[in-house]
Amino acid sequence: MTVSLECGSDSSPMAQAAVMRTMFGSPRVCVAPPRIESTDDIVGNPRVAIIDDQPLNIRVVQTHLTRIGYQQFFTTTDATQAIPLIRQEHPDVVLLDIMMPEISGLEILQQLRSEQEFEDLPVIILTAANDSETKFKALDLGATEFLGKPVDAAELQTRLRNVLTIKANQDRLKNYAWELELEVAVRTTELAEAYREMVYRLAKVGEYRDSDTGGHVARVSRYAEIVAARLGFDQELVGRIGQAAALHDIGKVGIRDAILLKPGRLTAEEFREMQRHCELGYAICGSGLTESDANFPLPEALGDVIPAAATSPVLQMAALIAKSHHEKWDGSGYPCGLAGEAIPLDARIVAVVDVFDALTSRRPYKPPYSLHEALEVMEQQRGKHFDPQVFDAFQAEWESIGQVYRELSEVRPAPTASDDGAAVSDE
Ligand SMILES: [Fe+2]
Repeated sequence: MTVSLECGSDSSPMAQAAVMRTMFGSPRVCVAPPRIESTDDIVGNPRVAIIDDQPLNIRVVQTHLTRIGYQQFFTTTDATQAIPLIRQEHPDVVLLDIMMPEISGLEILQQLRSEQEFEDLPVIILTAANDSETKFKALDLGATEFLGKPVDAAELQTRLRNVLTIKANQDRLKNYAWELELEVAVRTTELAEAYREMVYRLAKVGEYRDSDTGGHVARVSRYAEIVAARLGFDQELVGRIGQAAALHDIGKVGIRDAILLKPGRLTAEEFREMQRHCELGYAICGSGLTESDANFPLPEALGDVIPAAATSPVLQMAALIAKSHHEKWDGSGYPCGLAGEAIPLDARIVAVVDVFDALTSRRPYKPPYSLHEALEVMEQQRGKHFDPQVFDAFQAEWESIGQVYRELSEVRPAPTASDDGAAVSDE
């Protein structure tokens, strides 16, 4: 038995990895929000920004705070530099004067609260304007505390400690949430990757049984993604059809060797048996999906051991593709003789790319067609075998299709004598 990854002209690990990437893309990277730095120093030695147009006021506050061990101060008397200073220094708390030339402390506060990064940053208003209206406005804009001037050292120190203790606790909670989110993202990525790999491994099982279709699964998978993207599928659906298409012929594992591996063309009776790979693939991937599928029951022998319906979206799509990828737009296909849009769109896409790959691949009974020859043959089937819209999308992506063809041609195995019963022999 010949398998593309192991018996092809290039079976190196790099080539195998390339095929996996080709089929399922690069592993996704989990995304988590940035972690908050250590909260240990927030209370003991916080980063304090002091914004006041009077240098003397800054010195007084700094002196009060130095006495309780604070050492990290970032100050400016230029109100226009307040926001840039805060952005650059990332203080743990801001002590902000209100009455300043050019920009008032309230405007600075409003600007800070409008930015997500600073919405929780403690801001203590220090001002001589002690009227209740200003105080209310400052609190309404999100001031954390409000202290009148002249500043009382003990009150400043106590309120600052309280504010910083609350901030430290908030940051710890945020870090905990961040760690949980990261853990979930990592596990989710691992699960998704494991799932993608399992689908690939299942597809590989099918290829083990089918000797001369090396690389077929990988190419069909990629071609289907390209056509689906052209048809407007969103990114998630494109990825899904890439995986689901890989399983389109998985039902061949249930076909007898005498049929599956027979050199040359099949007799009519043998071909009827080969056609059962659609039914078998449907059963393997999951059947009983909808009421309309009731006319395609799970084979009795499998009914007791396989759940009636696949729950994964990829397997649900794979089941429909496996069942319907040999249906034809004009109703002359198999197994149900469906026509037009009664054939699932995913299966109509795979029908086109499956035939293209069969035509451009070597078979015991034919050499590989050139890309140009394959297109000529397929154009005759537009509106007969193929959904015209899907075929047009395929043709519109001719350059990308050719690129995948060339990229994956190196994993094709040397021809052997077998008949895959795929598109060309199905014609
Ligand atoms: Fe097939």
